Amino acid sequence: MKVVIIGAQWGDEGKGKIVDYLAENAKYVVRYSGGPNAGHTIVVDGKQFALHQVPSGILYSDKKVYLGAGMVIDPEKLFKELDMLKENGINWEGRVFISDRAQLILPKYRQMDKDRDSQRKRPIGTTGSGIGIAYSEKSHRDGLRLADLDWEEKMAEFDGEDKEYLDKYKDKLIEMRVDLTKVMWEVRKENILFEGAQGAMLDIDSGTYPYVSSGASCAAGAATGCGIGPHDLDKILGVFKAYQTRVGNGPMPTEFNNESEGELCQYVRDTGREYGVTTGRARRCGYLDLVALRYACRTNSLDGLVLTHLDIYDAMEQIEACVAYDIDGKIVTDFPANVDQMNRAKPILEKFKGWKKPLKEIKSYKKLPKEARDYIEFIEEYTGVPVTIVSVGYERDETFIRSNPWKK
Ligand code: IMP
Ligand code: MG
Repeated sequence: MKVVIIGAQWGDEGKGKIVDYLAENAKYVVRYSGGPNAGHTIVVDGKQFALHQVPSGILYSDKKVYLGAGMVIDPEKLFKELDMLKENGINWEGRVFISDRAQLILPKYRQMDKDRDSQRKRPIGTTGSGIGIAYSEKSHRDGLRLADLDWEEKMAEFDGEDKEYLDKYKDKLIEMRVDLTKVMWEVRKENILFEGAQGAMLDIDSGTYPYVSSGASCAAGAATGCGIGPHDLDKILGVFKAYQTRVGNGPMPTEFNNESEGELCQYVRDTGREYGVTTGRARRCGYLDLVALRYACRTNSLDGLVLTHLDIYDAMEQIEACVAYDIDGKIVTDFPANVDQMNRAKPILEKFKGWKKPLKEIKSYKKLPKEARDYIEFIEEYTGVPVTIVSVGYERDETFIRSNPWKK
């Protein structure tokens, strides 16, 4: 059985925790897009891990994890991350593999990425990890893949710092290199978890272009990014927060207003620990945008939604969520492609009663306060997709499963 987990917003929805939770029943965990721009936080027994390239399944000693063809790999950062895991008692050797079709990031790409963004009329706010450069080299058909590392003619094209760098990591990368398409075919009867990075709204095609990342962070990316066919994806889950965040620039119609909602914004940011794992930047916060969420449900064939950070609203008297946009006096419920329209969109908000109870203390979905269940049911009705998992804290056991994704 193959289960895909994607972010259904602009990243940082809490995928790391959910992947970690569902990985228990998987034999293999595969990352399929992005690179070191991602930051996945997982808390196990009170210990916090921040992962950027290694799939979250690594924290289970019996899982094998794979970095897919749709990824752009920064070897220097990857081995640093693996060292960090080892220092924390996680033995990764023999459990981490990389697709031979995955692309490599050279160190110079990081600066090139930052320079390009600072020269833009409308900067995107890149994490500066060289992601955009690596993906554009790929699209130009000038990229370097793991498969090329022992292609002498190609490798002879690198000199100076690039050559030195590649020489340093070449053997280590070759040791971890696999034909992922073949592996995926061989283990097709097992439980495999596909771990998305970033989010649906940062996808290069269906996201808020040009304010997106450069990879296929949509669900379909799990197929193209791992060398399997789209029919082979059995179930697709989208993770979203009870509110919403975004890092970097780009439209976000439901963003809290600095003046009138500054206090609410700071409260959500601090309670939800909304600071970037990769860059430390304070995340932009806002109301849950159901127009965008429904668009993500439709463009990714979501079978189920996973609601996280519901506990952040524990102290609120009232909760609001966006059900439509007002764009120049016109009511819009379809997510527009035009950035200029998005920037003019004013959210139309629906109000919900708060529950004013700590959800962490509740041990089952049925025991959730009625107000919390009302909020969830409204989301289900609006999107047409069931909320199958609810998370009310960072720990593994602060999770309610309403329907087991590993059951067909
Ligand atoms: P890049 O992928 O580093 O070029 O960044 C492009 C945009 O995507 C920027 O606005 C980043 O803040 C955003 N972004 C990239 N990766 C993530 C992520 O993992 N979580 C949230 N935002 C991200
Ligand atoms: Mg993140």
